[in-house]
Amino acid sequence: MTYQFPENFWWGSAASGPQTEGVFAGDNKEQSIWDFWYDAAPQKFFNQVGPDKTSQFYQKYKEDIALMKATGHNSFRTSIQWSRLMANPLTGEVNQTAVAFYNQVIDELIAHHIEPFINLYHFDMPLVLQAKGGWENRDVVELYVQFAKTCFELFGDRVKKWFTHNEPIVPVEGGYLYGWHYPDKVNLKAGIQVLYHEVLASAKAIAVYHSMGLAGEIGIILNLTPTYPRDAQNEADVKAAAFVDGFFNRSFLEPSVKGYFPADMVAWAKGNDLMPQTTTEDLAVISENTVDLLGVNYYQPRRAKAKESVLESRPEGLLPEDFYDVYDMPDKKMNPYRGWEIYEKGIYDTLINLKENYGNIRCFISENGMGVEGEERFVNAQGMIEDDYRIEFVTDHLKWVHQAIQEGSNVQGYHMWTCMDNWSWLNAYKNRYGFIAVDLDNDAKRTIKKSGYWFKTVSDNNGF
Ligand code: BG6
Repeated sequence: MTYQFPENFWWGSAASGPQTEGVFAGDNKEQSIWDFWYDAAPQKFFNQVGPDKTSQFYQKYKEDIALMKATGHNSFRTSIQWSRLMANPLTGEVNQTAVAFYNQVIDELIAHHIEPFINLYHFDMPLVLQAKGGWENRDVVELYVQFAKTCFELFGDRVKKWFTHNEPIVPVEGGYLYGWHYPDKVNLKAGIQVLYHEVLASAKAIAVYHSMGLAGEIGIILNLTPTYPRDAQNEADVKAAAFVDGFFNRSFLEPSVKGYFPADMVAWAKGNDLMPQTTTEDLAVISENTVDLLGVNYYQPRRAKAKESVLESRPEGLLPEDFYDVYDMPDKKMNPYRGWEIYEKGIYDTLINLKENYGNIRCFISENGMGVEGEERFVNAQGMIEDDYRIEFVTDHLKWVHQAIQEGSNVQGYHMWTCMDNWSWLNAYKNRYGFIAVDLDNDAKRTIKKSGYWFKTVSDNNGF
């Protein structure tokens, strides 16, 4: 059977500024929370490898963009680092060296017929703003909007696809619940304030973008994790799964697409003294400024069951897990090279959910991919990584994307995470995801993997 995709389907991959550029490339980059946290607590990072050891996109972007072409990209997403573009994130003073860098990247992509998709926030709060509370502080919302407006003014003549955030639930989880991100707190109420401010910042940036009359569109990138109950006939399990879906998915999906927060989550927050501080004016901004399109990151589903374990009493207060238990389904298929479930149909369920319950919003798969530990063991005699497992992973997911399209889903592209192996937060280089291998011990030398050549044939044929 052949799987043909709609005309002009976006084929490519996603990355982010902080994970690829290199921090100490110099040129007046301000510190972000990652630079600071690595200095303060290097032991938290896998093998103590920090954000200074990236794949050197800052220096090698020309070579990288040529490699994107060689691997079939017609589009590519990265992010502009707030802490690089702004010489002073408090005053809005711009770093001209950074402007020149991002201009060159955008122009190089366009010269290669690769459409730039630009995201404005990928977990990288400037340190001076974190010192003021980061997303906990309402003033930071205005400073973000100033940063976003500067980006639209500088690059909006050529960039036609903008995104306000990548996975905005992750700074909540990472920074306020589970200790993966600075400020490394456990405080659900503060996390919900962060959530609210991120949603507000997104809506305000969308308002500014639309007011500028630029010929492009703007959306948000959400990691939507379809959540399945242990037993679909068991009311308590179904309720637990709905809570998980509400907290981790709908808290962002509903305001982004429909303009309001989910009623069940608002009731839950009110009932547990977790309501953020809001204003009527801000809620009106959220209601009036929804997204033009949606990026969907999909890796694995969540599985939930009714709370069975005893509620922990902890000094820090409640966590989302106090309202459900994780269901560890016994026969699930696992990625043999990292501990995540593989459930290909989840991508289809997510797209059909968007079709049926979110007005069939125009969307694309903005991340999907297979992280592999110790991938060098698959290098062949010619020095190429034979990642047949990744080809199989992407093929199986694309089949379900194709099925969703047959059923009317408005999905318009597929981006894999990621183009070349990159540094990833606390995991550093533990999990390799790229179409292209990076040899960190050899001046970050790039070598296309088997999946990169395969992806080119998929893109060239607009299917497989
Ligand atoms: C995605 C993030 O969710 O997961 C990326 O958007 C991240 O920034 C990727 O790098 C992979 O994460 P990890 O921890 O498996 O390397």
